[in-house]
Amino acid sequence: MTRLAGKSALITGAARGIGCHFAKTFVAEGARVALADIDIDRARKAAAEIGDSAMAIEMDVTSQASIDAAVAKTDTSFGGIDILVNNAAVFTAAPIAEISRDDYRNVFEINVAGTLFTMQAVARKMIERGTGGKIINMASQAGRRGEPLVAVYCATKAAVISLTQSAGLNLIGHGINVNAIAPGVVDGEHWDGVDAFFAKYENKAPGQKKREVGANVPFGRMGKPEDLAGMAVFLASDDSDYVVAQTYNVDGGQWMS
Ligand SMILES: NC(=O)c1ccc[n+]([C@@H]2O[C@H](COP(=O)([O-])OP(=O)(O)OC[C@H]3O[C@@H](n4cnc5c(N)ncnc54)[C@H](O)[C@@H]3O)[C@@H](O)[C@H]2O)c1
Repeated sequence: MTRLAGKSALITGAARGIGCHFAKTFVAEGARVALADIDIDRARKAAAEIGDSAMAIEMDVTSQASIDAAVAKTDTSFGGIDILVNNAAVFTAAPIAEISRDDYRNVFEINVAGTLFTMQAVARKMIERGTGGKIINMASQAGRRGEPLVAVYCATKAAVISLTQSAGLNLIGHGINVNAIAPGVVDGEHWDGVDAFFAKYENKAPGQKKREVGANVPFGRMGKPEDLAGMAVFLASDDSDYVVAQTYNVDGGQWMS
């Protein structure tokens, strides 16, 4: 299939996990993709495995200079950016009594400011070029409600849903669709980290939380990056032209249950 033929995309946090799989899928659909990540070695390896239509870019979404440089490099290399996926994020967990201001700042800086200011930098290029575009923000089921040990991460993902609504309404006048995906629980290195937090705070054996959450998904298992790729391609393609400011749950029924 070539639903993204001739399109160019920038995906943040694409060195591994969901972002890396989106990069692979977008290339298979005919796009050229910049895999932007703070872990440049891994992004380079991932881009080399994907092939000639993929390139790696070093990017730290907490730095405005790094955002501007990565956006400028993608724009120049591809002759414009049609699609942005704001995917870079980090997870954190702690009881309210133990949350530190440093951790709060760091996680908000990556998950919220990183999303907002990358979106702004790419939107400016899209507006200047005048051909519209697609922006996909990675939210989470965690942004739909609080969790006892996950206050900060949940709040960042609620902010991503809200930013998607405001930016979606603001940018559609320029032909730029801004929408988001809210995954449930997706297996991979991210969730290995989540599992470690729960092992610490809920006194669980390593891997136990993962097995429990997987068993509780109505679909019957944790998600895989492949389960999200169809929604990402839809939101990146012309098929979603009339879809504005939405956040889609792709979670095996978890939020509904
Ligand atoms: N895995 C899940 O269960 C799950 C569930 C809901 C939402 N999500 C969201 O989906 C997205 C991808 O998740 P994932 O599981 O692939 O995560 P992941 O941890 O495997 O990948 C995140 C990537 O972001 C990069 N990154 C971290 N800080 C960065 C920074 N400052 N600048 C640039 N890159 C940076 C990391 O190097 C990594 O490659 C995230 O936004 C996450 O919050 C994941």
